[in-house]
Amino acid sequence: MVKSTTSSASKTLELGAMFARACLKFPSRRCALVLALQGDLGTGKTTFTQGFAKGLGIQGRVLSPTFIIFRRFAVPKRSLFKSFFQIDCYRLRKPADLLLIGWRDIVKDPSNIVVLEWPERVAKLLPKDAIIIRFSYAGEHKRTITMT
Ligand SMILES: Nc1ncnc2c1ncn2[C@@H]1O[C@H](COP(=O)(O)OP(=O)(O)OP(=O)(O)O)[C@@H](O)[C@H]1O
Ligand SMILES: [Mg+2]
Repeated sequence: MVKSTTSSASKTLELGAMFARACLKFPSRRCALVLALQGDLGTGKTTFTQGFAKGLGIQGRVLSPTFIIFRRFAVPKRSLFKSFFQIDCYRLRKPADLLLIGWRDIVKDPSNIVVLEWPERVAKLLPKDAIIIRFSYAGEHKRTITMT
């Protein structure tokens, strides 16, 4: 278990970028790498995701997908991963709605790396080897981020 408390949004961005750079070095896989970000509203999941995207070499801002539930980006850095998917399940009406974006194919493909917010909403559809990252509020500018 890795636990860290960040003292600002920019520290959370940095942590996300650091984690992405570590993911780029993962050995070859049989299916997509899925990171499930759990935590209440405003605990920093999207902030972490923005840093993560930057760590993969993705330029520009990765916004909170307010209306769209997912986006796909090409991974510019050289690695086994070719596509990065940012998914937010907060507004899904039901878990099966995730299947409408082609979830089964996304998780099958080892060249995909996925960061998903609100995994509780689609718990049954998550791969068993998904990496769970928990976010919690620890003060106005503090967030505790735990990886298991
Ligand atoms: N240490 C910190 N880490 C991350 N965000 C922080 C921190 N301190 C303050 N913040 C602020 O908290 C907010 C976090 O928002 P963010 O959209 O990342 O949360 P979220 O977990 O994605 O929320 P939601 O569930 O609504 O999608 C931002 O406004 C950010 O500036
Ligand atoms: Mg968010």
